[in-house]
Amino acid sequence: MTARSCIVLGFILAFSGHVAGHLNLYLNLHEVMRLLGVSAELYYVRDGLVNDYALNFIVPIPANVKDIAFTWQSLAGRPLPYNINIATSDPAVLPRPTLNISRTGDIPTEIQTFSIAMRCTGIRPAEVEVTITIEVTLNRATNNVTELVFRRKKICLDADEEENSVDDPLLLETVVAPQSGIITLVIGGILAIILVSILISIAYCARGPSKRQNHGGQPMRTSSFQRLQTQPPSNPPSVYISPSVIPIHHTTLPRQREGQEPEELHRRIAELTVQRCRVRLSSLLQEGTYGRVYRGSYNDTQEVLVKTVAQHASQVQVSLLLQEGMSLYGASHAGILSVLGVSIEDHTTPFLLYPAQNNTRNLKLFLLEPACSRSITSIQIVMMSSQLASALVHLHSHGVVHKDIATRNCVIDDSLRVKLADSSLSRDLFPSDYNCLGDSENRPIKWLALEALQKKQFSEASDAWAFGVLMWELCTFAKQPYNEVDPFEMEHYLRDGYRLAQPYNCPDELFTIMAYCWALLPVERPTFAQLQVCLSDFYTQITRYV
Ligand SMILES: *[C@@H]1O[C@H](CO)[C@@H](O)[C@H](O)[C@H]1NC(C)=O
Ligand SMILES: *[C@@H]1O[C@H](CO)[C@@H](O)[C@H](O)[C@H]1NC(C)=O
Repeated sequence: MTARSCIVLGFILAFSGHVAGHLNLYLNLHEVMRLLGVSAELYYVRDGLVNDYALNFIVPIPANVKDIAFTWQSLAGRPLPYNINIATSDPAVLPRPTLNISRTGDIPTEIQTFSIAMRCTGIRPAEVEVTITIEVTLNRATNNVTELVFRRKKICLDADEEENSVDDPLLLETVVAPQSGIITLVIGGILAIILVSILISIAYCARGPSKRQNHGGQPMRTSSFQRLQTQPPSNPPSVYISPSVIPIHHTTLPRQREGQEPEELHRRIAELTVQRCRVRLSSLLQEGTYGRVYRGSYNDTQEVLVKTVAQHASQVQVSLLLQEGMSLYGASHAGILSVLGVSIEDHTTPFLLYPAQNNTRNLKLFLLEPACSRSITSIQIVMMSSQLASALVHLHSHGVVHKDIATRNCVIDDSLRVKLADSSLSRDLFPSDYNCLGDSENRPIKWLALEALQKKQFSEASDAWAFGVLMWELCTFAKQPYNEVDPFEMEHYLRDGYRLAQPYNCPDELFTIMAYCWALLPVERPTFAQLQVCLSDFYTQITRYV
């Protein structure tokens, strides 16, 4: 079954009301791809059946999208009279949007696409609610009018930010198009989940401790951090999944696999050794003070990323590369980038090879490309998060705590498939993400849970915290978390209950999931199995109920 037929199926089940006249009203393939990154048509009215679920969902319109389009067609054998009215909650920020068809007219019997232009004034950033009311006169004689109400949440930025967020549909198509394969996969799984979620409460995901109240479309977040309540949700997360599937309690004690022993390291190196002459370096991707990442090939057939160090690297730096670079060796999971080979022929500059088909590259650098922020949609962010959550379920089930989850330690390919990688060379390649707090240890302070920061306690729960920061990075296209907070102050901030604020463009549901990850007490944070279910549910919700 293709992704498309699955989505349409979901909608048919959801159709409820009946409009006697025959009419189709939908978002066409191009529009759904543009707004949500999914290859599907989205019907609000199909053959006269109204999809109330779809109508009730408030679709966020990202800052870079300045026009939205609807497609309709009268199937009644004659044009149907309509009347469109559009209102915005904050006309100073978003004046009344304009249409490229007249406000009153007839729905033609052939397919017609019309667009609604939303131009923010840029006087201040805000989320503006837009209500589009379409009245269709089904029967002129009885004056029987059906009213369809669509709600949208338009994100408006400051004037200068507005200028930078150019809509570039061409670019979008090239970045976004090749990923229908993943969607098919994810949706296949999601159909199974839908059945399950009918039986169990989705209250946990839908109701968060941080539910914002948004008055009059004013943005509730002006700084990059805010105070959050961090009590556990009133429904404990464990109601969600059967307890036999996941452990309900976190062990707060670290359960690190004994991978750092010298004998174990030597065994791994022996198993993985490749001949250096088979490795060909083609381009330098990243360069730190001693660390280097190259794109290259192995055996002339396999594309690889090569991590190595410069000649002047110290012995400590060399052994750190080997140790950290091999920490995920043996993790066989599609969401984990595990080392493919190692060469220590030259002891001063060892090579570590990682598989890198389909233009695999660093996720943080990818997010920082300007083209990326213009094209990645909320749905894709949810999908990436879900892939990484499943990788962490795997890792944790083997007792491995990652300890440095962040976008800099992930890779992404051209189909937007993400993988979790180890943290080797990251301290050197992303120096601003690590800080020393008086001791000689360079740590990812802004990604650390409070107990990891204070007592160096790492666990599945501290990984969950860092994963929340990673999701925040995805939504902000790799902004620095708590940019204005001094690393020395972090402990106070976190203890006082301050957390990262909800980014613009970040749906409430996704932010709620992040906020759970930042619960003060480790036991209150979700496990990755729970995170995966939340993310899948949210994914289902945004793809089905748009
Ligand atoms: C208008 O259409 C609805 C839906 O088909 C129908 O139930 C209702 O009776 C109609 N009203 C009039 C006044 O014809
Ligand atoms: C309105 O604009 C959209 C997008 O630019 C275009 O596809 C459509 O054909 C236009 N419709 C009319 C009736 O001009």
